[in-house]
Amino acid sequence: MTKVLVATEKPFAKVAVEGIRKIVEDAGFELVLLEKYTDPNDLVKAVADVDALIVRSDKVTKEVVDAGKNLKIVVRAGAGYDNLDLAACTAKGVVAMNTPGQNSNAVAELAIGMMIYMARNLFQPGTGSEIAGKKLGIHAYGNVGKLVAKYGKGFGMEVYAFDPFVDKAVMEKDGIKVVDSIEMLYSSCDYVSLHIPANDKTKKSIGYDLLSKMPKGATLVNTARKEVIDEEGLKKVLAERTDLKYATDIMADCHAELVEKFPGRVFATPKKMGAETAEANINAGLAAARQIVAFIKNGDKNFQVNK
Ligand code: 3PG
Repeated sequence: MTKVLVATEKPFAKVAVEGIRKIVEDAGFELVLLEKYTDPNDLVKAVADVDALIVRSDKVTKEVVDAGKNLKIVVRAGAGYDNLDLAACTAKGVVAMNTPGQNSNAVAELAIGMMIYMARNLFQPGTGSEIAGKKLGIHAYGNVGKLVAKYGKGFGMEVYAFDPFVDKAVMEKDGIKVVDSIEMLYSSCDYVSLHIPANDKTKKSIGYDLLSKMPKGATLVNTARKEVIDEEGLKKVLAERTDLKYATDIMADCHAELVEKFPGRVFATPKKMGAETAEANINAGLAAARQIVAFIKNGDKNFQVNK
């Protein structure tokens, strides 16, 4: 019987797991669950006899792919697939997919929430500020960026965007002021919300040079990946510019040092919370299950990322 493994170090909401189970079992497949594991070897062992794998940010390494003797498909229930070793998947003929857009709303809401939290001095007593009337820069106008832009406008922000991969007319139609360079975005905006993926081109791409261009009192909000930040550059700019703030959903490796050196100006969620809503878990988890059924039954390769 076709076996589908859901391996989530950070489990989906129960209701999402029930939905995944229904889709998998209705298709005549068997569901295997590996939740809250802490040892990566547990995933290596669990994948040994399964045909399909659903993960979140769980690392699907070459070791995992090679251990999956029957593995045909891996679906990252979410947007960013930097946790999948695509070369290893391709080498073994394993189809890798993501579920774009399914958890975007949850991440976008968190980005706006973090802007307000920073504007109100981490909810500590004292006078804060409002986000209405401020300039919001969207760095990458994908599924999440688009929603942050929409909500930012709803809050009365003036929204700018930079995304060389999106047609300017599409962004302008949404009422966004499109800027032609990343430098222009950072130098114009009071808040920059980061939505770039982590890849060889973007890793450590946000650092001292860009951040030092930000206007007085500006805040960088990162709901993307910690790897896109050059942490040495971030530390340097926060030390020089005592007005700048950094809020992130993906704790920097040097987070403890940042909090100690720059109290009140740095915030990180305790564990990546962007997609931690029942709605996002249901949307992404069920989409992943449906994509697996469609692939195994009909060879449907929609959303394949290792073409
Ligand atoms: C994504 O890329 O979809 C988000 O970062 C969510 O990741 P998570 O499923 O690990 O919370």
